[in-house]
Amino acid sequence: MTQDNHDAMPCRLKGRIALITGGSRGQGAAHARRLAQEGAHVLAVDILDDEGTALARTLQAENLDVTYRHLDVTRKDEWTALHDHLADIHGKLDILVNNAGIVHISTIEDETPETWQHILNVNLSGAFLGLQSMIPLLRKSGHASVINTSSIFGPSGAPGYSAYATSKAGLLGFSRTAALELAADGIRVNALVPGGVSTPLNAAEKEGGVIPETPLRRRATPQELSAAVAFLASDDASFMTGAELVVDGGFSAR
Ligand SMILES: NC(=O)c1ccc[n+]([C@@H]2O[C@H](COP(=O)([O-])OP(=O)(O)OC[C@H]3O[C@@H](n4cnc5c(N)ncnc54)[C@H](O)[C@@H]3O)[C@@H](O)[C@H]2O)c1
Repeated sequence: MTQDNHDAMPCRLKGRIALITGGSRGQGAAHARRLAQEGAHVLAVDILDDEGTALARTLQAENLDVTYRHLDVTRKDEWTALHDHLADIHGKLDILVNNAGIVHISTIEDETPETWQHILNVNLSGAFLGLQSMIPLLRKSGHASVINTSSIFGPSGAPGYSAYATSKAGLLGFSRTAALELAADGIRVNALVPGGVSTPLNAAEKEGGVIPETPLRRRATPQELSAAVAFLASDDASFMTGAELVVDGGFSAR
């Protein structure tokens, strides 16, 4: 089975409404394709409007139910408007993938307070604002799943990535706490912990990034992460909440 052959895909998400932040490219675009292949109605949101619109057009041409809408995850007003839009159209949300993220490489000594704060705003506060805004719609799902994209630089330190690693470590604490707060509402919350993934985010990384420390000696494809997201989103993961799903080619096993 090829990862893009949707005739051979399981169909675990029929009728589910899925929202993916950072959905214009990279892992978010792959998640949009995979969740739609499994039967979900997907809304991809991002600040890269041209790429997001083109992606939705491409996937629609493949008979996949993917639409695009602008959303900056740091803007509470935009989250509120998106909540109202989804409430009008679907009246519920089943899957929220907080995937949007940015990276900036700098030593602690050279980092500016503005850049530090911006990384935390996008990577960490973006997920908080997203979940907070969507809780009323997730409560209406009956099988809601929230997936927060952390990183191997969350559980481990990474010189040169202080703001990024701090945001990704913060997401782990946020996910666990959200899982505990929302379990009674039937909302599962898990963290995805990717190792190196081939996307535009790390295209400029020198010397292959974490490949030398990765036992499988390569980066993941975005589709390899999408398989994990589809699992967490589906009822196959119905007893998983507050967990971290590590997909890192063995990086953390060392
Ligand atoms: N690529 C890797 O090696 C790797 C490893 C571990 C974790 N991650 C995480 O995976 C997630 C996806 O990253 P990717 O690798 O696909 O990179 P990417 O740069 O291709 O995708 C990130 C997306 O987030 C969007 N985004 C940035 N700021 C935004 C904002 N304010 N509002 C809405 N969208 C915004 C970008 O426009 C982009 O489309 C990120 O959270 C990243 O930190 C990536």
